[in-house]
Amino acid sequence: MTSRSCHSVVLAAGLGTRMKSDLPKVMHEIGGLPLVGHVLKVLADAGSERVSVVTGPDMPDLEDLVAKLAAAAQCFVQTDRLGTAHAALAASSAMEMPTDDVLVLFGDTPLVTSETISKVRDALAEGADLVVLGFETKTPHGYGRLLMKDGHLLAIREEKDASDAERQITFCNSGIMGFAGNHALDLMRAIGNDNVKGEYYLTDAVEIANERGLKVVAVAGSEVETQGINNRAQLAACEADFQARKRTEALDSGVTLLAPDTVFFAHDTVIQADVIIEQNVVFGPGVNIRSGAHIRAFSHLEGAAVSSGAVVGPYARLRPGTELGKGVRVGNFVEAKNAKFGEGAKANHLSYVGDARVGAKSNIGAGTITCNYDGFLKHRTEIGSGTFVGSNSTLVAPISIGGGAFVAAGSVITKDVASDAMAFGRSRQQAKDGMAKVLREKLKKAKDQNS
Ligand code: UD1
Ligand code: MG
Repeated sequence: MTSRSCHSVVLAAGLGTRMKSDLPKVMHEIGGLPLVGHVLKVLADAGSERVSVVTGPDMPDLEDLVAKLAAAAQCFVQTDRLGTAHAALAASSAMEMPTDDVLVLFGDTPLVTSETISKVRDALAEGADLVVLGFETKTPHGYGRLLMKDGHLLAIREEKDASDAERQITFCNSGIMGFAGNHALDLMRAIGNDNVKGEYYLTDAVEIANERGLKVVAVAGSEVETQGINNRAQLAACEADFQARKRTEALDSGVTLLAPDTVFFAHDTVIQADVIIEQNVVFGPGVNIRSGAHIRAFSHLEGAAVSSGAVVGPYARLRPGTELGKGVRVGNFVEAKNAKFGEGAKANHLSYVGDARVGAKSNIGAGTITCNYDGFLKHRTEIGSGTFVGSNSTLVAPISIGGGAFVAAGSVITKDVASDAMAFGRSRQQAKDGMAKVLREKLKKAKDQNS
């Protein structure tokens, strides 16, 4: 990695009118992370020590999100949306501080990698004054085209301003640009708005830099990394490419995916080698799965940690705060939320375990429900080790069931159960000999009289 200093400006003020959404465009998500979050993450990986984010007016949620995702990033508001150069200049006070490299990135281009950003920075380190990251595509519609001559980048032409011949060009602008710090502001300030849209296009920096005899370089990236998102179809296409990338990463790192195309990852899913993942499994954010675990078909996991040897599903749902110890079994139609299962504990069928601790080797019978919510507050259920909770038990929290205790099937447990105690929370069974026959005859007689 270069030792040059770097300031990155992320443009994120666009409304995303073409998304037909009230949400700022860069807050739409890929892999469970807002678009702008992907860009901030990659900038941290790429070693950009200063980051400015340009937001629009009335986007407090976006500012909060940026503060949450990158505490050191500074937000600037672009009051009128007059184009990408105008947006970048909203951060001009930050750009006045001397920096070797100034990068401009778009918040709607989430899949760029730190390796590609390094390529742009390497070109600056080798003496370029302005670097444009381009990409080849069979579908250039909507992108600015790179006008090249003898390997030199002469200008970028926006789709709306391009001639028919220029529209045939398939080498396009990703929107990611690198400026030598001593030229960045001068170039941006020289940009006018003489074009079809009457906007200040950052892309015009290329022609201006050439006029000034500065060194302009185009670097090529892959289409997958550099695709921009302007509408829902592009959002969906980008999500598909992101998932394909995650599947390849998982397979390459030693994870078995029985049907890769049916497994969906979040941006931060961590899965160690020798995990087996069956068909149709969805990972929401915050999942960590350790070597040797097995996730069976049709399971949904979010904010959950799964230890080695644990088996989840089929049809299990692990919600945030779930931690499964080694060898735990959570089977079909079991939902766990904020629940810690000790080593070897089991909940194999049809249960809800929420706000709970289940001790090692305890067994939660089919149909057990922890009643954690009274309509106002959440309450905890504590279950010791080696405890047996019989099927169809209702554990009314707050409640504690000691280690080695036995809860009879069908119990409603409202009082704490001591260790090694046996608890019955159900009405006593009565059986009256011959009574069924008497009842049957009585009912038959009543029916015959009525017909
Ligand atoms: C832009 C580029 C185009 C490139 C494409 C790549 C320009 C003029 N065009 O077009 O060459 O091929 O991206 O995806 O740069 N934004 C603001 N304020 C504004 C306008 C835009 O913050 O006033 C932000 C948007 O939130 C977005 C980014 O800048 O994140 C790009 O704007 P967008 O409207 O998506 O430009 P494109 O038409 O995609
Ligand atoms: Mg765009």
